Amino acid sequence: MAKKPGGSTHSASLRASTSRPPKARCHVIDHPVVAAGLSILRSKKTAPDLFRRHLQEISVFLFVEASRAWDLRSIPVETPLGPCDGAILARPIVLVPILRAGLGMLDGIQRIAPDAAIGHIGVYRDAETLRPVSYYERVPGNIGVAEVLLLDPMLATGNSACEAAAILKARGARSIQFLSVVASTVGIEQFQRAHPDVPIIAAAIDRELNDHAYIVPGLGDAGDRYFGTG
Ligand code: URA
Repeated sequence: MAKKPGGSTHSASLRASTSRPPKARCHVIDHPVVAAGLSILRSKKTAPDLFRRHLQEISVFLFVEASRAWDLRSIPVETPLGPCDGAILARPIVLVPILRAGLGMLDGIQRIAPDAAIGHIGVYRDAETLRPVSYYERVPGNIGVAEVLLLDPMLATGNSACEAAAILKARGARSIQFLSVVASTVGIEQFQRAHPDVPIIAAAIDRELNDHAYIVPGLGDAGDRYFGTG
């Protein structure tokens, strides 16, 4: 089993309670390039081409943090000058964007993890029950042995993320991390209640949701801004 990133001392890390199963951490990336890129994403003046570029860039930082403690396997490597010790990742990578906005996180991550397999999960909110309903699921067969990264730039109510993580577990995923650009406090709490074993990695935590379940201040509708459909 691969190691999980652990023991963050970052101020945003949420501590385990004594009465419940220990919560996986919520790690907020503390990096000047991420802070600057996030401000560009948040600005309503940012056009879709720049929005896409910075969403992809921040996704790379999230990926780097998620993969920090992944196991390696030693391999011999021959350089032009002789043998040396090399390494490969011990487990395959599976990226699972939650449709539609999660797709915006793929391109950047795929550039540095070109061998990653891609799954897709589509979830909508039933207008009457307000419960999340899955309308599309397709995940690679190796999900049970893979490092699985669930992608959605906005963790708002947490409903879609909780449903998507439950789908991945039902399909056999054992090592999942959730990558989000802006996470709401409510969404984090709901996700950690449902999936205490799944770490969250985010670029920012915002406190409020409005009446339409949008994160405030957030960055608006990430899917619309990425695909230019606003
Ligand atoms: N989805 C978005 O795209 N933005 C939000 O603020 C909440 C959910």
